[in-house]
Amino acid sequence: MPESTPSPSVMLAHGQQAHLPLGVPPQTPGDTPKRTVKNGAPSNDLVLSAALGTNEDIFPSVLSLYAAPGSTVADITYGRGVFWRNVPPDRYRLLATDLIGGVDSRALPYRDGEIDCVVFDPPYMHSPGGTAHRGHKPFERYYRNNGTGNRTGAKYHEAVLELYVETGKEARRVLRDRGVLIVKCRDEVCSNRQRFTHVEIMQAYEDMGFVAEDLFVLVRRNRPGASRVVKQVHARKNHSYFLVFWKPGEVGGLWTPPE
Ligand SMILES: C[S@@+](CC[C@H](N)C(=O)[O-])C[C@H]1O[C@@H](n2cnc3c(N)ncnc32)[C@H](O)[C@@H]1O
Repeated sequence: MPESTPSPSVMLAHGQQAHLPLGVPPQTPGDTPKRTVKNGAPSNDLVLSAALGTNEDIFPSVLSLYAAPGSTVADITYGRGVFWRNVPPDRYRLLATDLIGGVDSRALPYRDGEIDCVVFDPPYMHSPGGTAHRGHKPFERYYRNNGTGNRTGAKYHEAVLELYVETGKEARRVLRDRGVLIVKCRDEVCSNRQRFTHVEIMQAYEDMGFVAEDLFVLVRRNRPGASRVVKQVHARKNHSYFLVFWKPGEVGGLWTPPE
């Protein structure tokens, strides 16, 4: 009969030996025992970080992961409410405002800390200079970065970024501790220079005390073109982002999903 391999053992405080299953290395004093997750079940019914589709397809999943049903959500660039088309109307307490209705995202009509979640989807591309936007009426109608006047002192990409930064500060004021800020953005090439808007926003928001917790990539279904191509310099963008931040408050710690 082959000799069986003795299992490793550890000495207990009262002198007895405890045998460990084979393959488990004995622990030395001070080692933290490995945590084994025993509950839960395998699933592939998960919210994914990248998706093909439109804002209204992806926004409900982003929201469901980060805002508890019944929570107060302030959409501060509500526009035509496209984001909300697939969100059941009674799931959240929605407070919808927009510059069109006279509420600037940099001066919100809420008290400090009274909001659970802020949603911000401003014009995320700079307007073509001069009169060029006249030929982009649908673009301008949707984003309104000329029509409503963003009233920033900056120009082009800097103006886009300044609105994100100023609104981030205001969102931080109205959010409760552990409240969530969901931001839509897209990178852009401005004056032939690549601007990774999503990185710039993350840096600015972390500097003001937010924690960047998640990033969703939305890829459009149709294939974008370009007028007047001489030689392509950068990749033509066909994706945008939902970024998720939260306000750590005094306690900080790690993000825990809403109950
Ligand atoms: C991309 S659209 C938002 C679309 C919206 N998420 C939807 O689902 O229909 C940008 C919106 O930002 C608004 N806006 C631009 N500057 C603003 C500001 N400073 N404060 C509040 N809203 C602003 C525009 O009026 C426009 O409705």
